[in-house]
Amino acid sequence: MTGIASKRSQKIILVGPPGAGKGTVAKGLVDRFGLCHLSTGDMLRAASAAGTAVGLLAKTFMDKGALVPDDVMVRLIEERVQQADCRAADGSPEFLLDGFPRTLPQADALQERGLAPDLVLFLDVPGDAIVRRLSGRRTCPACGNVHHVEFAPAKVDGICDRCGGALVHRSDDHEATIRKRLDAFELQTSPLVQRYGAMIERVEAAQRPDAVLAAVVAVMQRHGYAD
Ligand code: AP5
Ligand code: MG
Repeated sequence: MTGIASKRSQKIILVGPPGAGKGTVAKGLVDRFGLCHLSTGDMLRAASAAGTAVGLLAKTFMDKGALVPDDVMVRLIEERVQQADCRAADGSPEFLLDGFPRTLPQADALQERGLAPDLVLFLDVPGDAIVRRLSGRRTCPACGNVHHVEFAPAKVDGICDRCGGALVHRSDDHEATIRKRLDAFELQTSPLVQRYGAMIERVEAAQRPDAVLAAVVAVMQRHGYAD
């Protein structure tokens, strides 16, 4: 990894409700700091599109707005963080996790494997803004780029600005499922705020995307990250 030489161990976690802008912020941080970004949602969707056993199992939970079982998720992340792009030159783990951990047992699993975070970024957005963000989101399955019909419209309707692929409406981005995802966040994920306590940096994420990114970058710089 390049760009963040001022710290040896860089294990960062992005936490936030569905639609808080985790993927959008992560893209900005990757462009700026060159981090190893792992979105468990993206990994599961890729596995599902590829028709793997894990992907097909995960899809049955995702389409209902429910979390995928912890043992499946822990195995997925455990294997992925061992790959070279998530290791510093000295072999220590370096990553930006987006959407993991999402439960207390998942946080325990990181801890037990020596992968506890150095920094936890919490993107704070009220629930009413979220339904609007997610119901208007359009994603590109080919390159992972994310648009929004209102807040980040594509130049040509339905076509990804970055790669020209056809944009889709994610199968879990419909209002009834969004509400179930919000419930899952409240019940299963929000206890992480207490778990990580003083380590959490809370960022006001109900602002324009560039303002959210600037706020996150300011936090990272306070923690010694430099581009
Ligand atoms: P996942 O894909 O992680 O979904 P999520 O957490 O619900 O979050 P999203 O990806 O929907 O939103 P985001 O915060 O990335 O926002 P984005 O930047 O796209 O997980 C999907 C499912 O997989 C889960 O429900 C679960 O089933 C399963 N899963 C994944 N990880 C798991 C785990 N660890 N354990 C168990 N199950 C797991 O932005 C959203 C939209 O808003 C975009 O259109 C964007 O353009 C727009 N936008 C972004 N920022 C702003 C802004 N500041 N202002 C206005 N619009 C904005
Ligand atoms: Mg995302």
